[in-house]
Amino acid sequence: MARVLLEDVTKVFDGGVTAVSRLSLDVADHEFMVIVGPSGCGKTTTLRVIAGLERPTAGNIYIGDTLVNDLPARRRDVAMVFQNYALYPHMTVYQNLAFALTMRRLSAAEINKRIGRVAGLLAIEQLLARKPQALSGGQRQRVALGRAIVRSPKVFLFDEPLSNLDAALRISTRAEIKALHHRLQTACIYVTHDQAEAMTLGDQICVMVDGAAQQTGEPLGVYERPINRFVAGFLGTPAMNFFTGRLDFQNDAVSFVIGNDTITLGRRLKTLTAAYRNREMVLGIRPENLSLSLPSKQSGGSISAVVSVVEPLGNRTDVHLRTGAGDRFIVSIDPHIDVKPGDGAKIRIDPEKVHIFEPGPGGKNVTLPDTAD
Ligand SMILES: Nc1ncnc2c1ncn2[C@@H]1O[C@H](COP(=O)(O)OP(=O)(O)OP(=O)(O)O)[C@@H](O)[C@H]1O
Ligand SMILES: [Mg+2]
Repeated sequence: MARVLLEDVTKVFDGGVTAVSRLSLDVADHEFMVIVGPSGCGKTTTLRVIAGLERPTAGNIYIGDTLVNDLPARRRDVAMVFQNYALYPHMTVYQNLAFALTMRRLSAAEINKRIGRVAGLLAIEQLLARKPQALSGGQRQRVALGRAIVRSPKVFLFDEPLSNLDAALRISTRAEIKALHHRLQTACIYVTHDQAEAMTLGDQICVMVDGAAQQTGEPLGVYERPINRFVAGFLGTPAMNFFTGRLDFQNDAVSFVIGNDTITLGRRLKTLTAAYRNREMVLGIRPENLSLSLPSKQSGGSISAVVSVVEPLGNRTDVHLRTGAGDRFIVSIDPHIDVKPGDGAKIRIDPEKVHIFEPGPGGKNVTLPDTAD
């Protein structure tokens, strides 16, 4: 196993597309790093640069203590698992697993021993004689994982390995990958556009937008303290709600004015937002930090809205609403509360859970203690 270090890595393709822009990443030798971001943000390119399948335009890549910029892919000792499995169709599962080891001229006995161990680990012993077309999608992905593991590489690279699987299989295979990493303790870099995969798998996650890392850290820390609106809106389902409004400072109190509604904010936010006095800003709040009541029951401190869609999910119900000003948002509520489209509602905001962002799609979060200055 080995640490992976990226220093200011940039990849510009012929034709001028900047796929990766000054990406720095430090993955400890036993760590599971997840790079998460929307389609086209540069995830696959990042992995291909680490694997040696693309040359970086600028920056350095280290695996262990070795600068690998000029090292060919086959000498980097990394194994990549792809979304489409990339198994050899004319070979049996056993031959697929053995292929890289044969190339390395390991003895037949050693190959047999390693395949036996990995097949046991992944519960694919009974599939070894079959060819890929006789396997289900989930079984093929296990073989693809096995083919990576059997090489005992220094680093695993995963490119959306679960996205061809159905929802249930995706969740069970996700748990298996996590358990495998726990046993193997090898550095993993895993890319996905699925924020739930990122949150559940990563020791660290790196949120990437337009080729650039926005924020890197432990999943819960990034979820709770997103540095900008990109990150805040990307992690969590349903996504964080955003309201445009104005920070209003009067006497000793600060509040946020959304149309005709005024939300009183706490003392903590008052200090942090003082520099943005009376400015247009964006309030962010997660669906689980809102509560819903009928219009008659609440007076100040809440938002008036009309229910547009009700989605019962069993363990909770997601209610879509619209404010008078046209802002759309979602509240997650107890599934036994009776609401229907067209109902008027008052939404209470937990003022302790509010984030305030500068305007714009990537607006900075001004309510984090270390970025408020
Ligand atoms: N060989 C190439 N030549 C030119 N542009 C490329 C090449 N490969 C990728 N790109 C561009 O680089 C950007 C990043 O692509 P990349 O495949 O890394 O994104 P991604 O995050 O993996 O997306 P997805 O989630 O859809 O797989 C995109 O704008 C893409 O069109
Ligand atoms: Mg990709």
